[in-house]
Amino acid sequence: MPELKELKSWLWIDCDEVGSTNDEALRLSKDLRPGEKVVITARKQTNGRGRRGRNWISLDGNLFMSMLFSWPLKENGAMPLIVSLAVLNTVLKLSPQAKVKLKWPNDVLLNGCKLSGILLERGLKDNLVVGIGVNIKKAPCSADILYPTTSLQSCDINCTRRKFLKLYLDEFDKIHQLYLSEGMQTIVCLWLQHAESVNSSIIIHTPRGEERGLFKGLGSDGMLQLETIDGKIKNIDAGDVFFDKNGENEK
Ligand code: BTN
Repeated sequence: MPELKELKSWLWIDCDEVGSTNDEALRLSKDLRPGEKVVITARKQTNGRGRRGRNWISLDGNLFMSMLFSWPLKENGAMPLIVSLAVLNTVLKLSPQAKVKLKWPNDVLLNGCKLSGILLERGLKDNLVVGIGVNIKKAPCSADILYPTTSLQSCDINCTRRKFLKLYLDEFDKIHQLYLSEGMQTIVCLWLQHAESVNSSIIIHTPRGEERGLFKGLGSDGMLQLETIDGKIKNIDAGDVFFDKNGENEK
């Protein structure tokens, strides 16, 4: 394991090559001391994992990182919103005019294509692992990919993975503080200000099947609120969202 460095308020482990930075963080989670916050990055990731059992194609030059810190299980719903807002703000820091949007639960879109994905996993004790992949230099392209992808470089935003990491940690700390001082309501409002297609027709592939309706917002638990064709609100806790361009469900 490489040496521990300090980066902002974090302990930083910068690896040359790992299977998955999330696996490294999960392994470390049993030894995390109270109040300690660790971030693990890798130049190369050979077995990156995505949400819902998918692979994360980890191309050279992109950012692969996992944060490890103590976070109560009952507040799990806030973290995807905090992290995706922090990634969005980082992109806006680099390019204030960038067309960057959020897609529930935790994707960051640039010009309508996926720039970043986030994978949250519970570690040992009360620890949470937040894995983040950001396409800095290259956008993966494969038949298995559900959603079109992009990279910062292909949108003329020049950055290195190290620079992105430093800016991101500042943004994360700011939004985390905002959550601690003002609570979930403020974070949900902020998230919705940057969300793609609120009040529009969406299709969600959930673990229990497909749902269609209007994307009405988020609950205080971070769940997606879907208005179904019969006018009822359904709370969705997991799934992949697609924007329904034909708008069949719009009233
Ligand atoms: C998604 O499916 O959208 C989530 C992708 C998360 C990928 C990141 S890359 C760093 C960390 N290590 C992993 O194995 N996965 C996450």
